[in-house]
Amino acid sequence: MKNHNFHEALPMRLSRYFLPVLKETPSDAQIASHRLMLRAGMIRQQAAGIYSWLPLGWKVLKNIERIVDEEQQRAGHIPLLMPTLQPADLWRESGRYDDYGDEMLRITDRHGRDMLYGPTNEEMITDIFRGHVGSYKDLPLTLYHIQWKFRDEVRPRFGVMRGREFLMKDGYNFDLTKEDALHAYNRHLVSYIRTYERMGLQAIPMRADSGPIGGDDTHEFLVLAETGESEVFYDANVTDIKLGQRDIDYDNVDECRAVMEEFTTLYARTDETHDADEFAKVPADRQRTARGIEVGQIFYFGTKYSDPMGATVQGPDGKPTPVHMGSHGIGVSRLLGAIIEASHDENGIIWPEGVTPFHVGIVNLKQGDDEADGACDALYKSFAALGLEPLYDDRKERAGAKFATMDLIGLPWRITVGPRGLKNGVVEVTSRRTGESEEMTPELAVAKIAQIYADL
Ligand SMILES: Nc1ncnc2c1ncn2[C@@H]1O[C@H](COP(=O)(O)OP(=O)(O)O)[C@@H](O)[C@H]1O
Ligand SMILES: [Mg+2]
Repeated sequence: MKNHNFHEALPMRLSRYFLPVLKETPSDAQIASHRLMLRAGMIRQQAAGIYSWLPLGWKVLKNIERIVDEEQQRAGHIPLLMPTLQPADLWRESGRYDDYGDEMLRITDRHGRDMLYGPTNEEMITDIFRGHVGSYKDLPLTLYHIQWKFRDEVRPRFGVMRGREFLMKDGYNFDLTKEDALHAYNRHLVSYIRTYERMGLQAIPMRADSGPIGGDDTHEFLVLAETGESEVFYDANVTDIKLGQRDIDYDNVDECRAVMEEFTTLYARTDETHDADEFAKVPADRQRTARGIEVGQIFYFGTKYSDPMGATVQGPDGKPTPVHMGSHGIGVSRLLGAIIEASHDENGIIWPEGVTPFHVGIVNLKQGDDEADGACDALYKSFAALGLEPLYDDRKERAGAKFATMDLIGLPWRITVGPRGLKNGVVEVTSRRTGESEEMTPELAVAKIAQIYADL
């Protein structure tokens, strides 16, 4: 199986796991994803907009993070890690220390030095760049990290969707010319679409407003959902555009530009940049107004930070030249909420295979029955040997309760094992998404599920 390392695999018996599911629907959670994350024991609120990630939630967060990481590296971007706490002086250089306002959590250390919990990292990455890069020959360069951010939101809400502490991938490109920086922009756009598609999500790039980051060119990526905070306007045909299994050469300027144009030519805008006259040109039967969840944003802002902060390289002519930059963010922790909003039913979550916390659930209908226990153990070991992670419900519970837990936590595949089936040499394989079940031998069940994940 691609990208799967056996040492990371964590096959689990539910009797030994920590899965604090809630029986009652939490009354303070307003949207499905928040309710389901609480009910499935994925998160626990510790203060407004601040959460502990319980084992199941943490596993999904890690899966999402891994996909983001892999796709960034595939696009040629270099990972590093910057701290959460930053000195205020860096932000004074760019002028944003005062501009950023109350969303910035300001802290003073014991020596009276002004610090802040980073809401983003343009200043710090520019500082790293100017300290270590001196020549145009070292360009192009794109650095990124996946790190916790803090924004003291006025109204943290909807669980991890709008938190105060949240996990973000933020990346920064450094280029000699505007043209090169626009290639970096296009490369990010393509890699983001690929990232979301691997998570089973359609996120539509929409022309947006740049806000406090500044700059001219920016797209937000929106997942359509009734509970989304943004109002969006688009041509219905944009939802037909998919990247799929295309092999992209991220160094190929024309190819990246062509894909960018393919995804951004049809009308798709958030309310901030919506233009009624332009929208009216879309054929009436294709005009859509809906709501969306912003799961990422890319910016080109030229020399906005490199100018005031003196991030220059020696150009081919020997003269110091301020670098052209952009920044690019993915809401890693918000994505859990977005995926659940896009994929759930009245019984619980339905994880796409790409991010599921466990690959398959095993339900033993008659715990304590030698044959049923033995068959479940054998399945468990077969999956583990393949590097897959089964969650085996080995509790002494009624079948109904076991099914309800599996449906709630949303594993895409379930194998049900009971004495009656075993008499005929079969177990039952059920798809969480369609609800359809199929009987087959345990060996075929393992092969079928292994194949599904091998094809990802
Ligand atoms: N308060 C938050 N909680 C969770 N995720 C957030 C929050 N704020 C931003 N994000 C995520 O981080 C991504 C990059 O942030 P950015 O575009 O700088 O934020 P904003 O759109 O709020 O200005 C956003 O697209 C979003 O997915
Ligand atoms: Mg944004």
